[in-house]
Amino acid sequence: MAKISTIGILTSGGDAPGMNAAIRAVTRAAIFNGWKVKGIYRGYEGLINNEIKDFTSESVSNTIQRGGTVLKTARSDDFMTVEGRQKAYDNMKANNIDALIVIGGNGSLAGAQVFAQEHDVPCIGLPGTIDNDLYGTDSTIGYDTALNTIVECVDKIRDTATSHDRIFFVEVMGRDAGFLAQNSAIAAGAEAAIIPEDQTDVDQLGQFISRGFRKSKNSSIVIVSESKKDGGAMYYANRVRNEYPQYDVRVTILGHLQRGGKPSAVDRILASRLGVAAIEALNEGQRNVMIGISNDRIVYVPFSKAIKIDKPIDKELINVLNVLSI
Ligand code: F6P
Repeated sequence: MAKISTIGILTSGGDAPGMNAAIRAVTRAAIFNGWKVKGIYRGYEGLINNEIKDFTSESVSNTIQRGGTVLKTARSDDFMTVEGRQKAYDNMKANNIDALIVIGGNGSLAGAQVFAQEHDVPCIGLPGTIDNDLYGTDSTIGYDTALNTIVECVDKIRDTATSHDRIFFVEVMGRDAGFLAQNSAIAAGAEAAIIPEDQTDVDQLGQFISRGFRKSKNSSIVIVSESKKDGGAMYYANRVRNEYPQYDVRVTILGHLQRGGKPSAVDRILASRLGVAAIEALNEGQRNVMIGISNDRIVYVPFSKAIKIDKPIDKELINVLNVLSI
């Protein structure tokens, strides 16, 4: 196995609070280990375009508390092509980078997997996404912060919902995963969560209305996962307007504010632990795995599992919300 003396680090896909803490941890752990570090800007785009700088311990000073990513990020179409990945590989070699640490979500780790196979490059992934949709890790970097941001917003929406006796449909991110919706609904005391995992034949809106949601309350908050398929919160609000015109309905789409802000302590600690573990994993000879956390222990999850297997939502969480929203 080729000796590693320089690693490259990049963030890719949607940014997530705590990515800076992860960059800092990887950089410092690598330097602690006697390795050199190169920061690659704008994700795989930067590898293709040779936007690469030497990183020192000072390069990551004063970053642990900052949201976003100091390395910037991008979703790279070029990296989806064989030619793009060849350019990326050539730049890696030109910069003497022996191994790559990729911080990102599903698509970013899928990119790392293809790249690693095609060019025999050691790659380690860190789960960086607010969606929490990577299999094999209990949490992803950014998820806890985004969850707290949503809860803070919903608490505010509740004030106005209660004052006006309204139903609010609050749309949250999550792409194809309902973790943000389900758990923010529990934490904010919402009446229901409409999540992609529950898209059975059962009409979730009909169910919510027929449960008699106004038995003991005059206002309601329903958290809805964004959905390209049915249109998310707008769709449900329009349906209530048409099917139950007696209710006064409003929609709030939280959007990208969920991706910003200072990372929570939980995310900073998670990112720091995963970053140090990534360097230890490389040192041990691990290749093409995502570093995750399971039952508070570091685990190595092969890329193939992390990105291919759907991470299920615990039925217990669905039950908790149902019981508490009577
Ligand atoms: O994957 C993170 C995420 O925020 C998803 O929840 C959301 O669907 C998507 O990224 C939005 O992507 P963009 O910032 O490219 O609009």
